Amino acid sequence: MARDILKTLTSEHDDLRELFAKMKKTTERASKGRQELLEKIKAGLLPHALWEEKFFYPAFKDRADRDGLQTHAEAVQEHRAVELRVLPDLEAASPTTAEFAGRAKVLAEFVEHHAGEEEKTMFKMARKLFSAEERSEMDAQYEQWKASPAAIKAVDEALGKAAAAAKSNPPPG
Ligand SMILES: [Fe+2]
Ligand SMILES: [Fe+2]
Repeated sequence: MARDILKTLTSEHDDLRELFAKMKKTTERASKGRQELLEKIKAGLLPHALWEEKFFYPAFKDRADRDGLQTHAEAVQEHRAVELRVLPDLEAASPTTAEFAGRAKVLAEFVEHHAGEEEKTMFKMARKLFSAEERSEMDAQYEQWKASPAAIKAVDEALGKAAAAAKSNPPPG
């Protein structure tokens, strides 16, 4: 089967959906399990989101029509909300608390909504805007990037920004 960036991104969404389903089943007693799941979610979510922001979204924006530009703006804003508020607030909660469970649920809802919109709208548009060859090429580039120091640096920077956002406006309680 030919490789395709849209298939890869969709399958990563599925991996995240599975992790969120597992998180939903945990209880306040599963402190270690919750922490481990959160680490796995971050390890799956951040490189995916950052590559989209740095490479896929700009390429999409370049070719998008009016509807596409709005779809792009919506996706960018959802990433900001998750990276600078929803995820940092979850990280600030202790895994044994109701705050953790509530904030984990909100993160799951945001990611589910966002991934669904990408799949139903943005990726559908992208399938028309990019040839099979271009999608295959992007898939190879994504794989290379994920294994590169640039990816580690991007994740570190994102975590730094998230920490700064949490510090300047900490969650209640
Ligand atoms: Fe995204
Ligand atoms: Fe995505």
